Amino acid sequence: RIAGPCGLVIFGVTGDLARKKLLPAVYDLANRGLLPPGFALTGFARREWDNQDFAKVVHDAVKEHARTPFREETWKQLAEGIRFVQGEFGDEEAFERLRTTVEELDRDRGTNGNHAFYLSIPPSAFPEVCEQLSRSGLSHSGPDAWRRVVIEKPFGHDLESAQELSGVVSKVFLPDSVFRIDHYLGKETVQNLLALRFANQLYEPIWNSNYVDHVQITMAEDIGIGGRAGYYDGIGAARDVIQNHLLQLLALTAMEEPLSFDAADLRAEKIKVLSAVRLPRELGKHTARGQYTHGWQGGEEVVGYLEEEGFNPDSATETFAAIRVDIDNRRWAGVPFYLRTGKRLGRRVTEVAVVFKRAPHLPFESSQTAELGHNALVIRVQPDEGVTIRFGEKVPGTAMEIRDVTMDFGYGHAFTESSPRRTSASSSTSCSATRRCSRARRRSSSPGRSSTPSSTSGRPRASPNRTARAPGVPLPPTR
Ligand code: BG6
Repeated sequence: RIAGPCGLVIFGVTGDLARKKLLPAVYDLANRGLLPPGFALTGFARREWDNQDFAKVVHDAVKEHARTPFREETWKQLAEGIRFVQGEFGDEEAFERLRTTVEELDRDRGTNGNHAFYLSIPPSAFPEVCEQLSRSGLSHSGPDAWRRVVIEKPFGHDLESAQELSGVVSKVFLPDSVFRIDHYLGKETVQNLLALRFANQLYEPIWNSNYVDHVQITMAEDIGIGGRAGYYDGIGAARDVIQNHLLQLLALTAMEEPLSFDAADLRAEKIKVLSAVRLPRELGKHTARGQYTHGWQGGEEVVGYLEEEGFNPDSATETFAAIRVDIDNRRWAGVPFYLRTGKRLGRRVTEVAVVFKRAPHLPFESSQTAELGHNALVIRVQPDEGVTIRFGEKVPGTAMEIRDVTMDFGYGHAFTESSPRRTSASSSTSCSATRRCSRARRRSSSPGRSSTPSSTSGRPRASPNRTARAPGVPLPPTR
């Protein structure tokens, strides 16, 4: 759907997030024809830039990071609406200049008073910017115009500080004008969780504690934190990833069917299931934290967290975090959900693995099922987006020997550029025996047996390993 007339003001426009993600994303939307013709993009920052300087920054960011091809025509149209306002967050006059700019845009570009303010800034600056937006009248929606605010994580560092920030923001913006952004919700594979569960008859009957043994939600990254000291140190893996991305994945995996897919109905179901989540009482038993040390990653020597540039060498910030939670409702009673994330792990993978219980009875000799694991359904969020189902099959031959095989759906095969709406069964699924991997996998198939550095004390222990290894994902095969 094409947006109506509007403008976007980005605070913190000189930061990494703006350069790598926000500015290219604006261009991509324009390129896909999803922005209105008079769209305006305004940057606000301390740098002594003018409109042209900022336009050049946007241009370079787009060239380097946009996902869609560079098209002169799109760029020309976007560039006409680019403005820059120089100032400090505490500078009232700068916000007056911003107001004047916004009014000019309404007049010259037809943005009609509709403006979103994107706070790509440290949370400590939220209150000041919100107050300035309010004081300068920028936050007030008119009868036919809207003003919205987009807030990046971390939204506080605990419940109290999050509530405090909420209080500040809600004094200035109406509740439905506040967008706490989580970019995971924009991923096709994350949205597909709803389709997979609620558009099919196949899964929902077994999506409960009668059949599910446990659920593993993993986001492993091979990158380190280089270049992000200012943001990451003191925040760590749990606040950076678990409280937002992984809890969203948990909510979508565990919630009940929403009345509809509109925001209020989805939110109602998410709130219900998240309210039923029981946190572990014993920290250390059902939680783990770790920090990567120096080692080798893909044949390249990499430094440890404490040696990364700009970091406090005594930092106790965790780069790996894992937690087991339970959900106290009828559907999930007794089914542990394991959430884990980390940097500098062996490979990049985000997936949700629903691991099923064993069949209540196996009419086979135990030697015949030695290679049979648990049935599993793995939603591969990224990379290699798709869904894998693992189950046991008879190995061809005279003996009755059962072994795990996998059946795959891959986005890359099923939805191609030329046939985005069509899937071809023959090209979208494949079946393969997984004998070689299955033994090794079974050996590490207990979620407690992660090979990732972890510690049960408050301070994370450095890994004795030279290299941070794969997340030990218990995980069912991905291929
Ligand atoms: C961000 C985190 O929200 O997500 C980063 O702050 C992390 O630390 C990133 O690297 C991962 O995003 P994606 O889309 O690559 O999985």
